[in-house]
Amino acid sequence: MNLRSSNWFGRKGKDGFIYRAWMKNQGIPTDMFEGKPVIGICNTWSELTPCNAHFRDLAEAVKKGVLEAGGVPVEFPVMSLGETLVKPTAMLYRNLVSMDVEESIRANPIDGVVLLCGCDKTTPSLVMGACSVNLPTLVISGGPMLKGHWKGRDIGTSDVWRFDVASKLGEITPAEFLEAEACMARTQGHCAVMGTASTMAAMVEALGLSLPNNASIPAADARRKVLSQLSGRRIVEMVKQDLTLSRILTRKAFENAIRVNAAIGGSTNFVIHLLAIAGRIGVDLELDDFDRFSREVPLLANIQPSGQHYMEDLYYAGGLPALIKEMSAIIHLDAITVNGKTIGENCQGAEIYNPDVISTMDRPFKAESGIVVVKGNLAPDGAVMKPSAASPQLLKHSGRAVVFENIEDYHARIDDPELDIDGNSIMVLKNVGPRGYPGMAEVGNMALPKKLLEQGITDLVRISDGRMSGTGFGTVVLHVSPEAAVGGPLALVRNGDMITLDAHKRSLELHVSQEELDLRRAIWAPSEPVQSRGYVHLYQMHVEQAHLGADMDFLKGGSGKDVSRDSH
Ligand code: FES
Ligand code: MG
Repeated sequence: MNLRSSNWFGRKGKDGFIYRAWMKNQGIPTDMFEGKPVIGICNTWSELTPCNAHFRDLAEAVKKGVLEAGGVPVEFPVMSLGETLVKPTAMLYRNLVSMDVEESIRANPIDGVVLLCGCDKTTPSLVMGACSVNLPTLVISGGPMLKGHWKGRDIGTSDVWRFDVASKLGEITPAEFLEAEACMARTQGHCAVMGTASTMAAMVEALGLSLPNNASIPAADARRKVLSQLSGRRIVEMVKQDLTLSRILTRKAFENAIRVNAAIGGSTNFVIHLLAIAGRIGVDLELDDFDRFSREVPLLANIQPSGQHYMEDLYYAGGLPALIKEMSAIIHLDAITVNGKTIGENCQGAEIYNPDVISTMDRPFKAESGIVVVKGNLAPDGAVMKPSAASPQLLKHSGRAVVFENIEDYHARIDDPELDIDGNSIMVLKNVGPRGYPGMAEVGNMALPKKLLEQGITDLVRISDGRMSGTGFGTVVLHVSPEAAVGGPLALVRNGDMITLDAHKRSLELHVSQEELDLRRAIWAPSEPVQSRGYVHLYQMHVEQAHLGADMDFLKGGSGKDVSRDSH
């Protein structure tokens, strides 16, 4: 076995001395440097990322497994991104973390990597960075929280939006609101619904990057540690087999992931992250593929926000293996996974134990699923929607635009009693895209004005160049590309313009003549400043549009695993 790490630890003379001696201050015996695979455990543990705060325990379990299989575990930190605290949005830093991960792996004596991922962005950023190095790599997700209980009912992150409306309407008191917080996030783990974190955990399992059941074993379940220990054992074998990321991440794996995402009602953020991962590993994937490959897939999983149950219920019902087995006819069963078996082999013994949680292809939970890509003169490069979380009657709708120029404008005017808006209006929010916000914030499912909520109106068509939390819902058109801040047609929409959304026909049209649009464009100027320094400057100068995955242009592809020069 020709180990990459032997370029450090196998060296003679001064260089070998330097590479080994300082490692020995951690109490590592000499024989650990003699030809054993070195496994990097890339940890996003942080107390500022509460969803990943239990990762030190998982890392210990991985280390046990690595040692059992004859490898050498080395844990290292990378920047962590907590969805709830990071401003202006964790998405702004996804690409930064991917750079941290990529360079940390390449620069160090590592033969294989285990990625510890959880809260939304920690998964795509770690996978993206690892792809640009392309070592044998295995992903472990932190697992979902157990569902919350409050006043006799089950609650999860999707209830945040419901609690917000209820408190605005005076239906729950401030004290009840506060009490619900503690009842919801009551265990370790990431959001208990099919938000973006769970979507990402399912994505890595469907891509073949994790051991089976990675998607749904709860964080608090002892089997999460077992999965971690087995992953530690397995990564050592992967190094021996040189089972690199690019051998697993084939076009077939991506098509599988898109179909599984449709069947589970995964987050719209899946689109932007999978596109970015494909760009790093060099697989051709485009926005239209998400619509094309999810079209014939029904919604099988009855999980919030598209359904009723929680991630732990998915596990008890048979987990992703049972769901994938049910989808056998439309899955590339021969796609290889990290354990060396095909995805078909991995789900062979799986069974659905609760058809209310995982339904069947002939009696699906909902016919509408997946990601719909709409295009038109308002979104020439496309925009996305999640029909399973939308109101069916609004999927085809024409209405007058009520325009907010940016998020501050929205906050300032949304509850103004004078705001000219009714149940047929279409809310339009500009300048929340990749360059504009910056970082493409999760504000696309903007809350409805209080005066409409009081009339019992619960959904309006909402259009923006931003994103939506995977836990969110509504008839929300997101990721409009090109974004307003770079002069996309969205920038030209004015109050009162007629807009037609027809999700069935995949169209999004602004009923304003080309002549009028040309006149408006002639006087348009970008309103969002580009920062003059630091990472944000780099990001704004190089970030690509949403339909390409919002990676930075110079990060596409990879630079491999080799470093030719020594440090001494
Ligand atoms: Fe971390 Fe939802 S906030 S996964
Ligand atoms: Mg999120």
